[in-house]
Amino acid sequence: MKEEKVLISTRALTKRFGQKDVLRGIDCDIKVGEKVAVIGPSGSGKSTFLRCLNLLEIPSGGVVSVDGEVLFESELTAKKDNLEAIKKQIKLLISGENSEEVKAHRAEAGELKKELEKTNSLLKEGSTKVKLLKVKLARGTGSVTQEDLDREQANLTSLGERKAELKTRLAGVNAKIKQKKSEAKALLDKDELARLKAAKAEAQEQYLKAKKAHNASMKKTNASIDEHRRNMGMVFQHFNLFNNLTVTENIVLAPLSLGLKDVKAKKKQLLKRKLKGEDVSEQLAALPTKLELAENAKATARRLLKRVGLEDKADVYPSTLSGGQKQRIAIVRALAMNPRVMLFDEPTSALDPEMVGEVLEVIKELAEGGMTMVIVTHEIGFAREVATRVLFIDEGIIKEDAPPAELFGAPKDARLKEFLSKVL
Ligand SMILES: Nc1ncnc2c1ncn2[C@@H]1O[C@H](COP(=O)(O)OP(=O)(O)OP(=O)(O)O)[C@@H](O)[C@H]1O
Ligand SMILES: [Mg+2]
Repeated sequence: MKEEKVLISTRALTKRFGQKDVLRGIDCDIKVGEKVAVIGPSGSGKSTFLRCLNLLEIPSGGVVSVDGEVLFESELTAKKDNLEAIKKQIKLLISGENSEEVKAHRAEAGELKKELEKTNSLLKEGSTKVKLLKVKLARGTGSVTQEDLDREQANLTSLGERKAELKTRLAGVNAKIKQKKSEAKALLDKDELARLKAAKAEAQEQYLKAKKAHNASMKKTNASIDEHRRNMGMVFQHFNLFNNLTVTENIVLAPLSLGLKDVKAKKKQLLKRKLKGEDVSEQLAALPTKLELAENAKATARRLLKRVGLEDKADVYPSTLSGGQKQRIAIVRALAMNPRVMLFDEPTSALDPEMVGEVLEVIKELAEGGMTMVIVTHEIGFAREVATRVLFIDEGIIKEDAPPAELFGAPKDARLKEFLSKVL
């Protein structure tokens, strides 16, 4: 029986780094049991998408929910952009900068400035050269002649003339800009200005509202973030194992510390109830000891290691393992948290070719066992075989979302066709 319950869902998900819009509105539902492969060109935002799903990266805007519960929600960036855009329009209108003539002259001035910069750097180079030639000539080593020096000096003179000419032209263009701006200002469209000002007031209000909502939502996000991440196992391209810990120690590290934290929290709660006069001795006694927790975690580690065929590596250090073995351990480490979904970011792309198969095999078995997964991969054959759905991400947008047979067999999007022609 196929479950249709949506596990993770994103709406209008965006992420911006500085000025760069890396994710530009991702709407995506990942249902329980689905195996979603994510493909796309380098830099298109695939890793960022995965990292936003488990909130390793806090999105810039949109919604992320798990089990229908909103974990992140913000319109702040969008509202801020809107406000800034209106402010800019007003500024342009008032200053006369948005007149077509002013824009044309600005472009011209920009070109002249570039030219001027180039000339300046040539001048700098030239004068250094002249100085060197003079020194060499004074030493009389013979490799430099008076003609060399004369030629370089003539070059400098002509560059100087060019600079002066460019400066004059730039001054002329700037004067024109000034004049056209004041003409435009005199003709200022008062109605347009009034309209923009009203829009600004509205945008300002919306922005403040979004800010309040964002702050409230972030509080909620921060409160549930650990729980959320615990439910999502993540495997990266590089295994990130601790080399100073054995394989088992690597695997039990996180579950053990979380287990201890849980027990501590539960104990605290019980003691509170005890203070109120309740009899909680039975519950207190039932709490696992540190030793029991460790034994449990180790037993889980052994079971999982067996599952990936590495039970004999339990006590070795990662440095003695091959890349493929390390990656299988990294998968076990993620599984040890008993996650509800596994996120893989190019789990095989750092491996030697002969080791790719053993790692893909483990992932395939997990998939067949019913694990929900999202996997960014360049292994098209694997995606075709294992994925129930493939997303093609390009320039921060899902351009195509279809079952593998359809997406690979009959791609619709032009960029996808181009991408596939390169990787197939
Ligand atoms: N922390 C960051 N700070 C600034 N820019 C970032 C950051 N992380 C990612 N980027 C930029 O975001 C864009 C998308 O990066 P991302 O790693 O998501 O791409 P990708 O699709 O996974 O690419 P690849 O196939 O090469 O792994 C890139 O231009 C990258 O430089
Ligand atoms: Mg990536």
